[in-house]
Amino acid sequence: MDDALVIGGTRFIGRHLVTELLANDYDVTIFNRGNHDNPFADEDRVEHVQGDRTDDDALEAAADAVDPDAVFDCVAYYPEDVRRATRIFDDCEAYVYISSGSSYGREEIPKREDETPLEPCTEEQATDDSHDTYGNRKAEGDRAVFEAAENGVNAMAVRPPIVYGPHDYTERLDFWIDRVNRFDRVVVPGDGTNVWHRVYVEDVASTLRVVAERGEPGEAYNTGDRRIVTLDEMVELIADQLETDVEIVHAGPRELEAGDIDLEDYPLYRDYPHVLSTAKLADLGWESTPLEEAMGRAVEDHLESDRDGRENGPDREAEERVLGILDTF
Ligand SMILES: NC(=O)c1ccc[n+]([C@@H]2O[C@H](COP(=O)([O-])OP(=O)(O)OC[C@H]3O[C@@H](n4cnc5c(N)ncnc54)[C@H](OP(=O)(O)O)[C@@H]3O)[C@@H](O)[C@H]2O)c1
Repeated sequence: MDDALVIGGTRFIGRHLVTELLANDYDVTIFNRGNHDNPFADEDRVEHVQGDRTDDDALEAAADAVDPDAVFDCVAYYPEDVRRATRIFDDCEAYVYISSGSSYGREEIPKREDETPLEPCTEEQATDDSHDTYGNRKAEGDRAVFEAAENGVNAMAVRPPIVYGPHDYTERLDFWIDRVNRFDRVVVPGDGTNVWHRVYVEDVASTLRVVAERGEPGEAYNTGDRRIVTLDEMVELIADQLETDVEIVHAGPRELEAGDIDLEDYPLYRDYPHVLSTAKLADLGWESTPLEEAMGRAVEDHLESDRDGRENGPDREAEERVLGILDTF
């Protein structure tokens, strides 16, 4: 495969994917509306086609102009997006849809591609634009991939959990890096053993390429850091990368009440563990970046950026009230 078309490509995952594809000798075309700056504007091997993916004519024109071997779909939020794209790119060697770990419809540890049931999706949910139906819509996109493959399309799906790393506009990890960077005492909700699987963004990019090159049509592949850390361990990893020491202070629901804070107000806190098995992907020969290296790059990028993630979690003043209560014991 030589020519890749990336639907999206200028913000976070897609941006890293373009870099991964260039490093692996692909010629790349990015297809997007041009609302975000193009970081590859000066790169000769990256063409830009302007268009809206909801406009079939624009997507068809891109298919004709580029005739891609591989298509990577970074902006399919509705099942209809996947259905249309698998029709338009039905003759390419690989169509890879970025699905999500949120597609899974049952809590179990770990969630496996071919065993854990997916979220259902009603007709109303399929076109709903609220976050509540995100998992339903992503799961229906997976089913659209399976259906396309049954009709001979080389379509595959990749399911990442929470993605982190340079250019992460969600700022969920930034909240924690900012806390560790600014304070000696860091409040961690619960007992610190909470687990929410994450994946380093460059590893999502390599997953997408590896799945396009070696995956089986009609299959879904989880991705995720091969080593999973608890919330406490994540805070320690960040502190190591910042070359600082912090005191972790655990606060349960009753202590947090002093600051009018809920456990769920903290980003990357999830009551029940979310763990995706990455065995199927590893069988394709994929590996993840060592955690220290991945966190090192995330921290470095945080420090160079103006992201602080503070909007994503409780105010420090509210936390100070919690710390005040804990100090009286
Ligand atoms: N971040 C996570 O933790 C996470 C976890 C699991 C799955 N995912 C999945 O990852 C994908 C998002 O990745 P990303 O935002 O990092 O990708 P990205 O490809 O780096 O950025 C999104 C791109 O899509 C373009 N775009 C948006 N709407 C468009 C439209 N209607 N037509 C054409 N282009 C459009 C944007 O540019 P313009 O605005 O200029 O058009 C931008 O280039 C989603 O499918 C999401 O479900 C993310």
